[in-house]
Amino acid sequence: MQPEMQELLVRTGPGTPMGELMRRYWIPALLSREIADPDCPPIRVKLLGERLLALRDSNGRAGIIGEFCAHRGTSLFFGRNEECGIRCSYHGWKYDLDGNCIDLPQQPSYAPEIKLTAYPCVEQGGVVWVYMGPPARRPEPPALEWSLLPDTHAYVSRRWQECNWMQALEGAIDSSHVSFVHRYEMDFDPMHDTAAGRKYLKADPSPIFDVRQSDAGLTILTRRNGDADTYYWRITQFIMPWYTFIPPFGDHALGAHAFVPMDDENCWTWNINYYADKPLDEVQLKAMKDGKGIHGQVLSGTLRAVANRDNDYLIDRAGQKDRRSFSGVIGFAIQDSSLQESMGPIQDRTQEHLVPTDRAIVVARNRLADAARALRESQAEPPGVRADDQRLRAGSTLLGRDRPIEQWYRDALAARPDNPIYTV
Ligand code: FES
Ligand SMILES: [Fe+2]
Repeated sequence: MQPEMQELLVRTGPGTPMGELMRRYWIPALLSREIADPDCPPIRVKLLGERLLALRDSNGRAGIIGEFCAHRGTSLFFGRNEECGIRCSYHGWKYDLDGNCIDLPQQPSYAPEIKLTAYPCVEQGGVVWVYMGPPARRPEPPALEWSLLPDTHAYVSRRWQECNWMQALEGAIDSSHVSFVHRYEMDFDPMHDTAAGRKYLKADPSPIFDVRQSDAGLTILTRRNGDADTYYWRITQFIMPWYTFIPPFGDHALGAHAFVPMDDENCWTWNINYYADKPLDEVQLKAMKDGKGIHGQVLSGTLRAVANRDNDYLIDRAGQKDRRSFSGVIGFAIQDSSLQESMGPIQDRTQEHLVPTDRAIVVARNRLADAARALRESQAEPPGVRADDQRLRAGSTLLGRDRPIEQWYRDALAARPDNPIYTV
């Protein structure tokens, strides 16, 4: 990779091409339950290099504003959230969710001139979404299937991941790693065990990738040998700029992610499990809350993983030897983040050596880079901004070797209520 391409992909602060691209989409900022009640404590949220504060006002409205007081720069995290605004604890200046200074005790006539950054929010699917782009280009709220379901059907978590967002995204569109790092975990994890697909994943470590453009991003078709005259297909959806839908495992809930830059060396990894047509049961919810499957166990407050780089992700070398875990790290979520973080905060892609199973990664990088350049050069509307284009699903299936996959997947993987879930 050329250094210019690397810079284009990994830099997301204000004014960068990728940062401007990302600011054209609704951004998952935090969980609604993190600011559950009116006037509850605010939450710091860093997004695309901007330090922001999320809070819920006395009327129950959620909002996101700049973190620092306009007076002398105190963090409003230490402020008082009361009577429809947050009051700085230092000298009492008070701001509403639109960033207006609504009280300035020392010089009231000055208040109308004072404005904090404030971004519009919507709440949907248990998530507070924020739009940080030009007001005139604000899209309709997202239509990702998991974000439109009743609360009972989906469980969403988020986790601080200590590496650049592209390392996390690239992991999620790389089906070939499942045959290695998750090889034994598939048999232990309560959200993956029992799936027939495990057999094909283990037997064929070198899948064939076929990557197709969708209106919203990419559909990544991964082919392994199935039984007799079938192929085992795992079909991942990549929705611009950071969403992935994971091909499902047997009767387990569907999975999805988002990888949102916090800054260029850290990201928020969002994890979602859902059924499109029924509630999750208590056993599943407990497993997710305990960090099983794609969620991971985190420390409250920082949302940093309990198994993190300071403790070598609690690697169990005996477990690595006796095949409890391929890498010795326990759990899908931390297996992924440990290896992605081990590359360093920003992987140096000028030094990598790619092989055919990295095909989806190459195509995704180009799709993102092309969209960022097109936005900068011609203000072209980025792919995946339109809500209707996001109505897709992942799938896994066994198909006869003579069945053309392209005739099958376009209809089968539309996120329509009357479409069955395809899962093996
Ligand atoms: S620094 Fe906030 S009111 Fe003075
Ligand atoms: Fe993984």
